[in-house]
Amino acid sequence: MARFPDLWMGELLEKNDIVSVISGYMQLKPKGRKFWGLCPFHSEKTPSFSVSPDKQLYYCFGCHSGGGVIHFVMEMEHLSFIDAVKLLSERAGLVMPGFIDGEKMQQEKAFKDRLYAANKEAALYYHSMLKSDRGEKARKYLSKRGLDARMITRFGIGYAPEGWNNLTGYLSPKGFTTEELLGADLALQKDGRVYDKYRDRIIFPIVGTNGKVLGFGARTMGTEQPKYINTSDTPVFSKRNNLYGLNLQKGSRIADLVIVEGYTDVISLSKAGIANVVASLGTALTEQQARLMKRFAGKVYICYDGDSAGQESTLRGLDILRKEGLTVRVIVMPEGADPDEYVAANGKDAFEALKDRALTLPEFKLERLASKFDMSTADGREAYALEACGFISTLQPVEQERYIASVSRKTGLSLETLAGQVSISAVDNKNSIGNYRNTKVKKQRETLSERAKAERTLAMCLAKDRDTAMYVLKKFPPGRFGEQAYENFSLELLSIYSEGAEADVPLLLSRLEEQDAEKVAQLFVDDEGFCDMKSIADDCIKAIERADIRSEIVKLSEKAEAPGLPETERRMLIKKIAELQKQLI
Ligand code: CTP
Ligand code: MN
Repeated sequence: MARFPDLWMGELLEKNDIVSVISGYMQLKPKGRKFWGLCPFHSEKTPSFSVSPDKQLYYCFGCHSGGGVIHFVMEMEHLSFIDAVKLLSERAGLVMPGFIDGEKMQQEKAFKDRLYAANKEAALYYHSMLKSDRGEKARKYLSKRGLDARMITRFGIGYAPEGWNNLTGYLSPKGFTTEELLGADLALQKDGRVYDKYRDRIIFPIVGTNGKVLGFGARTMGTEQPKYINTSDTPVFSKRNNLYGLNLQKGSRIADLVIVEGYTDVISLSKAGIANVVASLGTALTEQQARLMKRFAGKVYICYDGDSAGQESTLRGLDILRKEGLTVRVIVMPEGADPDEYVAANGKDAFEALKDRALTLPEFKLERLASKFDMSTADGREAYALEACGFISTLQPVEQERYIASVSRKTGLSLETLAGQVSISAVDNKNSIGNYRNTKVKKQRETLSERAKAERTLAMCLAKDRDTAMYVLKKFPPGRFGEQAYENFSLELLSIYSEGAEADVPLLLSRLEEQDAEKVAQLFVDDEGFCDMKSIADDCIKAIERADIRSEIVKLSEKAEAPGLPETERRMLIKKIAELQKQLI
């Protein structure tokens, strides 16, 4: 974990007074020694969000989110720790310093640099192989798929020749060690033999927004399985945190991003002149990827394959994007087509027209619903209308009108009839199990995030000083943190303090895994804590306990609702739920 020089950090914090930074985002009113406002991290009607100018900390008594000015910017702007520091340094007109690295960090960084270098050499090698005599078959394959020299250059496409030791035989004499080749996942090892991971495949390098080669996707030209072999997670690559094609968006000002499934989709669309396209790397879209996109654009079009798997991923993707606060639309591919084939066959304008007709989230859900009914019969259309009105009744009243109109067009039923049905459904919703379940699932999610916030604040109390840490460790012993980093941190602290030693921050960090160390180092940034750190710790522990009780209630009620459950067991569950609910009062 990189640490910034203390002196520089001091200046950064001094020049970014927490009250003035937060006032840039929301209204704060002075009262007593603090400033108060409506918490931006949960919805509330009376202000429980407090900012202490003395301590330079914020804390919400409603959702237990708390921290210093950097945490606030991280949470508000969805930035990493380092990017939040960057933003604040720009705000204050400071120049970012180099990081002070511990010895271990320096070694790790050196190793990473070697992996980047190996990846870069490998990408150049594969690219040159594609252009060489050995690449003829691969060139033919690409040209058959319509990928011309321009695209091959733009995306750095290459070819890994047949054979077990082409790349290893090329990189080893250049000084790359076996450890480095294995570390970059360019080579594999079996029975002591080291051999190339990619053989006789087309190579798509994955380049990060930092311009470095992070990893590769390698496609077979034939029909063997798997179709793609990809770089597994390495110290310089994790597919959850990256998007294919994002490096090409850097510096360009874009109104929106299109997200597709595959490498070839990005390339074909780019060839057709549609460049604002990225691909999730063969995984379900992750929160981190949504956040990455948010740095580039406020609106994202999902354009997945027209098959049912594609539609399922669309639905999940939509929720993730929306949760990050992005405006979302769905580009609907004609059945069976993927964006690559579609744009190759129909051209740019046709694709842009599909984009213009992209669906909003409710439209997409209503479309999917319609596909489940036989819309050619009156029975089918009525059954659809009934379900559709149920769904529309859960939308905001102002949104309802246009969706009622769309159902009317599909079913031939009048607007009045449908509007009537929607209001009946709205009343039903209040009592229906379906809605009951929905709100509970929502509650559960809120509970989780609330628990996470309380955990971080509690971990900050641990980081405060020995006295506060011992207080917390006694009331909240290791084993209860959901966040692994905090869990490991509390274990380390316990062992240090129970040996009677003092917590030496760099030493402590070096004992943790890098990912954990990064999260934990953030807790130490604010040297000063609230004066009443212990009571905040109490508050957070209570919040965590309540969150756990609420999750338990949700779990038990789901059990109790299961069909076919014997009545005696159901009664027992309900009794337990009632007991838990009493604890919440
Ligand atoms: N993918 C993968 N491993 C597989 C299949 C797919 O990692 N065995 C990932 C790749 O990133 C791929 C994406 O999922 O690009 C989408 O898969 P698919 O649509 O099957 O591949 P395309 O990229 O469309 O490839 P092509 O058009 O060459 O078939
Ligand atoms: Mn394809």
